[in-house]
Amino acid sequence: MERLDKFLANAGAGSRSQVKLLLKAGRVLVNGRPETNGSRHIDPQKDAVLLDGSALGAPRSGVWMLNKPAGFVTATEDSGPTVMELLPKAMRKTFRPVGRLDKDTEGLLLFTDDGDLLHRLISPRNQVPKVYYARHEGIATQEDAAAFAQGLTLKDGTVCLPARLEPLGNGESRVTVCEGKYHQVRRMLASRGMPVTYLERIQEGGLCLGDLPRGAARELTEKERRALEIACGRKGSE
Ligand code: URA
Repeated sequence: MERLDKFLANAGAGSRSQVKLLLKAGRVLVNGRPETNGSRHIDPQKDAVLLDGSALGAPRSGVWMLNKPAGFVTATEDSGPTVMELLPKAMRKTFRPVGRLDKDTEGLLLFTDDGDLLHRLISPRNQVPKVYYARHEGIATQEDAAAFAQGLTLKDGTVCLPARLEPLGNGESRVTVCEGKYHQVRRMLASRGMPVTYLERIQEGGLCLGDLPRGAARELTEKERRALEIACGRKGSE
């Protein structure tokens, strides 16, 4: 037996708060009857749960990592090549990218069909660190690092949460952020006079790419999956 709201979130219906709204709107039927109570327990093997008239299967909750090459858009559909094309075909309908990398950014991109996990990973509230290696014009200084630590305000008024800049010398830096605003790392470095020429995500929530070749994808191990759940505050919170 499992709580209905948890079942719906794991089946990819949305975050826990989105699921609450779906239930309230009467869009979920259990055994043919509208159900609004998310705390109700269901048996996924026996009870028929429909969302907007479509059956939700037993919850599958996988997490994969991709070593994204440049030239692929992080979207489920686009006129050009998308990151979905780099996943096994069977996953393409239900798995979604966790956040996004720009078309030209390379490196670690996670995918999951677990809606609750996805939302936890991308919410700045959960402070999941994402680490980038950047090559850029100019040389990063300790003053730049202090400005990152303070929390930058970009030209258009966008306020960034405090972040970590580690100058590596020679126009290279490591940047750690806990949020995923549009072109964030590129814009942060550009705002300090250091336009980015190459960007790669090398870590997320403590996960590294290891020896995964560029363009390849694999499922996380149980140990990696558990570590990721801890990093976004899921383990121990339910
Ligand atoms: N920040 C960026 O500027 N681009 C990315 O792809 C990811 C983070």
